[in-house]
Amino acid sequence: MKKTFLLAIAAVVMSMSARADEGMWIPTLLGRNQAAMQAAGMRITAQDIYDVNHASLKDAVVLFAGGCTGEYVSDEGLLLTNHHCGYSYIVRNSTVAHDYLTKGFWAMTRDEEIPCPGLKVVRLVRMDDVTAQVLEGVNDNMSEAERDRIIATNHEKVCRKAEQGTHYKAMIKPLFYGNQYFLYVNEEFTDVRMVGAPPSNIGKFGGDTDNWMWPRHTGDFSMFRVYADADNRPAPYSKDNKPYRPLKYLEISLAGVEEGDFTFVFGYPGTTRRYVTHDAVDLAANVENPIRIALRDIRLGHYNAAMRQSAAQRLKYASRVAGIANGWKKWQGESLGIERLRGVQQKMEQEERFEKWAQTHHEYKGVLAELGKQYDVLRRTEVERVYFTEAMMASDFMNRTFALWRLDTITDDERLLQEAGRLRTAAETYFADFEQHSEVDSRIFVETFLYMWEHGYAPFMTQSDASDVTSALVGIYDKSVLNNEKKFNKLMSSNAKKIRAALKKDPAVQLFDNAYRRVYTREKNDMYRQANAEIQRLMRKYVKGMMEQYPDSNFFPDANLTLRVAYGHVKGFRPKDAIYYTPYSTIEGIMEKENPYVYDYRVEPHLKHLYEVKNYGQYANAKGEMPVAFIATNHTTGGNSGSPVLNADGRLVGINFDRCWEGTMSDLLFDPNYCRNISLDIRYCLFIIDKFAEARHLIDEMTIVEK
Ligand code: ARG
Ligand code: ASP
Repeated sequence: MKKTFLLAIAAVVMSMSARADEGMWIPTLLGRNQAAMQAAGMRITAQDIYDVNHASLKDAVVLFAGGCTGEYVSDEGLLLTNHHCGYSYIVRNSTVAHDYLTKGFWAMTRDEEIPCPGLKVVRLVRMDDVTAQVLEGVNDNMSEAERDRIIATNHEKVCRKAEQGTHYKAMIKPLFYGNQYFLYVNEEFTDVRMVGAPPSNIGKFGGDTDNWMWPRHTGDFSMFRVYADADNRPAPYSKDNKPYRPLKYLEISLAGVEEGDFTFVFGYPGTTRRYVTHDAVDLAANVENPIRIALRDIRLGHYNAAMRQSAAQRLKYASRVAGIANGWKKWQGESLGIERLRGVQQKMEQEERFEKWAQTHHEYKGVLAELGKQYDVLRRTEVERVYFTEAMMASDFMNRTFALWRLDTITDDERLLQEAGRLRTAAETYFADFEQHSEVDSRIFVETFLYMWEHGYAPFMTQSDASDVTSALVGIYDKSVLNNEKKFNKLMSSNAKKIRAALKKDPAVQLFDNAYRRVYTREKNDMYRQANAEIQRLMRKYVKGMMEQYPDSNFFPDANLTLRVAYGHVKGFRPKDAIYYTPYSTIEGIMEKENPYVYDYRVEPHLKHLYEVKNYGQYANAKGEMPVAFIATNHTTGGNSGSPVLNADGRLVGINFDRCWEGTMSDLLFDPNYCRNISLDIRYCLFIIDKFAEARHLIDEMTIVEK
């Protein structure tokens, strides 16, 4: 009796405060975690990680390409990140003749490094809690609109002041739904050059087959270099720029990791939704994910078939397929994980406890009921929107049609003609391999649309059976101006009146208009916006309440693409009955997976040779094995890719690149038994650079230590 009572209490406390190893912590507030981190094995201090006055580890970690993380590993601006983070730049610099994606790329001199226009690397200069300044003049009695107005004014003031007299850019982000605000002052570098990438069958070994899975053998890294002006400041690309000298770069440890070792991940996690209610979890796991998955099944089928046909088509679709497949697979794991954890039920139980508590904390009474009502509203508009983005906008054909539809809304003749000219140029790539592409694209258009119709989301198609809908859609595709390059170019070069008249008659534009007007009516838009605003407001209250309900818990704010620290241990797990996953993989697994008939499992001959003669240099572990990847309990999410994985002494031992499939619900619910991040073992990365690519000069730039 007594024991069950204690267990019940433990469950209550557990369910709201972070679970073991859960959390993405704010670097400036890491003092609060220091004792726990040191107890877990860390030998450095919170100040070594983020120091207000001196260079610290944080100066070696950057936001890479707006959605990944990178880290400096030399005093000459050499950056490590994932292969999949540099992917679109590797693809952009590749042609069928110089196919760096397939064959790899290594700049053997600085002159060979390739500029990457558009690629941005951001260093956090400092971050500060500015809650008091941002909320100055705000009170509980004002409307949300008024509150937003005051916050926006304060926001502007604080940012301008932070930027004054510097070349920095400042921004403010809300934490805990606006219970707290942080200022981030950033330094942005735009002269970033490609230095190295392994061939795809190393950097993407296992491809989408192995993506999100353990055991993993992907050599997921690529290298870039940041350049700055003569004063070491950010500058646009110039031949005269010099390699940037970072305030701090990471030392690399050859000691590797073993089960039980402390590690921390330092990077830019994008989005989590840790505190949402059961309605949000249900909507994501049981409504939105299944729709998205089914629609992406259709697209992936067609793209994959095309990619098997030729090298040109593989390059053409590689980047978009990687993106589509990534979400597709993650959502499957997420929904299963939530089901396994009884996620919706768990949330309802927490909500019940909150309501009970709120009986004596009147300010919070009714918050959850209100939230429930708003979710009912949101759900009605949200599902249509998911269909719109995942089905309506699935084909290039519909995306171009969207542009034409917008063209028709421009009332000013001159602007319309300008835009028509732009569309004409933009369509050159669309028509470049039209024959081949339209075969893939038209099928995607018809099948995703048909799926939407079958599920009742295209009632404006009045045909009564699927084959009639199909022929109607095929007819629309065939008759659209987008199906005829000559006609299209001629139309885009004629006068405004003619363009408008033709667009109004175009069957694809009409179809788009029907669909769009159904989903995005003024009434529905208002409903959607209001429901979201209300949810924000109510969540702000609910989260504040939970923090009062559990005053002894250390809460972490949801990820918001700002710098965070997650920590945990290298650890295996049991994904299923009778299976235990050990925590690291080796090159043996690459040879086990080898299959010359399966694209994802082709092994690079030179790698195989190095394996056969066991030429691992100083990079093998104590057992003589060549380690490839390892898993740990660090709480990570999208954006953490490329993040440095550091050991107890703050040295680089890995590059984070993924999570295990059984734990991908960690954006909503973290479970220490299943949630694992996957990191590339830094020794495999060095082995590839040194032994495989023979790019010794890069190794020589780094600081590599035994311990
Ligand atoms: N799952 C990893 C992440 O979310 C890797 C994605 C890139 N790889 C791929 N096969 N699509 O970013
Ligand atoms: N692969 C993800 C990324 O690109 C990381 C993750 O979702 O765990 O950031």
